[in-house]
Amino acid sequence: MPKSISGFSKLTKSKKIDWIIATYFLNNSEAERIIKQYWNSDEKLQQLHDEFIENTITNFYLPFGVAPNFLINGNIYTIPMAIEESSVIAAASKAAKFWLERGGFKAEVINTIKTGQVHFTFNGDPKKIQNYFEFIKPKLIDDVFPITKNMEARNGGVLEIVLVNKTHLLPDYYQIEAKFETLDAMGANFINSCLEQFATTFKDGATTYDGFSNDENTIDIVMSILSNYVPECLVRAEVSCPIEALNEDIHIHPKEFARKFLQAINIAAIEPYRAVTHNKGIMNGVDAVVLATGNDFRAVEAGVHAYASRSGNYTSLTQASVVDGIFNFSIEIPLAIGTVGGLTRLHPMAKIALELLGKPTAKELMKITAVAGLAQNFAAIRSLITTGIQQGHMKMHLMNILNEFNASGDEKTQLVAHFKSNVVSHSSVEAALEKLRN
Ligand code: MEV
Repeated sequence: MPKSISGFSKLTKSKKIDWIIATYFLNNSEAERIIKQYWNSDEKLQQLHDEFIENTITNFYLPFGVAPNFLINGNIYTIPMAIEESSVIAAASKAAKFWLERGGFKAEVINTIKTGQVHFTFNGDPKKIQNYFEFIKPKLIDDVFPITKNMEARNGGVLEIVLVNKTHLLPDYYQIEAKFETLDAMGANFINSCLEQFATTFKDGATTYDGFSNDENTIDIVMSILSNYVPECLVRAEVSCPIEALNEDIHIHPKEFARKFLQAINIAAIEPYRAVTHNKGIMNGVDAVVLATGNDFRAVEAGVHAYASRSGNYTSLTQASVVDGIFNFSIEIPLAIGTVGGLTRLHPMAKIALELLGKPTAKELMKITAVAGLAQNFAAIRSLITTGIQQGHMKMHLMNILNEFNASGDEKTQLVAHFKSNVVSHSSVEAALEKLRN
């Protein structure tokens, strides 16, 4: 069977599967069984998922878990998290409980502005394109009104548009840079529709504008697209408590704990190799909430890591200090997420996640998500500077290894008990299981 195919997207789902199975799988019936095993028996629900993307052949499950006891600005939340990595939810729950007893998390949204750009080239006098921009600007705004009117009725929409001259970086290169307030929507479609309309109006208007000389009126639109860099869509979350209140359950003096914690943060601030892992731990919490609520985790990831590099050096997203005996730990993170639009109201589990959170506004969801990231980072650093990460991690990982070897319920019970006092490693679990089976 050839491995390339034309017209694949036009095949029925069943024919697509037939082709894949025949082309790529030796054990045809087993592969087909597994693919179909993940179909939902509710045909309408399956169709909904089929239609989220193109060429759907089946579903790919992620566990959807919850971390209770998050006290945020005086309200208690149970946070939904979709994630495949063991320990993340356990760590979040532990951090939530820890801070529940110490005043909880405080969070505030600093700003919610998003940016989009029409990228174009113009080969004439920069003053003339600036004059043209000022001339056409009212029409740019008027022409997007059909797109923005609903958003404007609720105080959102286009906040400003400016012409940016980038010809010192790339010959003839300019941008129309627009700032948006998209309220409870992440706003990608809204922003991109506005930008494409700006581009059309801008290009068309130039043909009848008489301020250009004949050889100057060539505006070449390269592309119109939102930016996932959202340094002005920022949320801050923090926790604090007196040093003495730190670390009752781990046998390390609270002052020593605070000292090592600050050192861990200082290291992540100056050492990119560590900062990336440090921030990855934060994103364990952030992405899990972003995914569970039907938001775009790739957009969030791209924006967050760009923000972590804004000084020119990749650095930590969290900060810690001790002032007058008070330990403070905080995060500042850009999060362009929404609670309407996209999959948020379409995916039944995203709907459940949002209902579980009390149907939050986008701003509330930003705060909850930042807290999940901060909690995750607190739990990771707490483990790293005390017991080490593997102790907790491998206990949770034990179940994955047992599942890998198809352990029965009884074997799992016996081996979980066994590994309460033994070191978990892939080989030690394999050996213990073999011993049990023999
Ligand atoms: C593992 O998924 C995340 C950690 O590596 C984060 C960190 O090192 O801070 C534990």
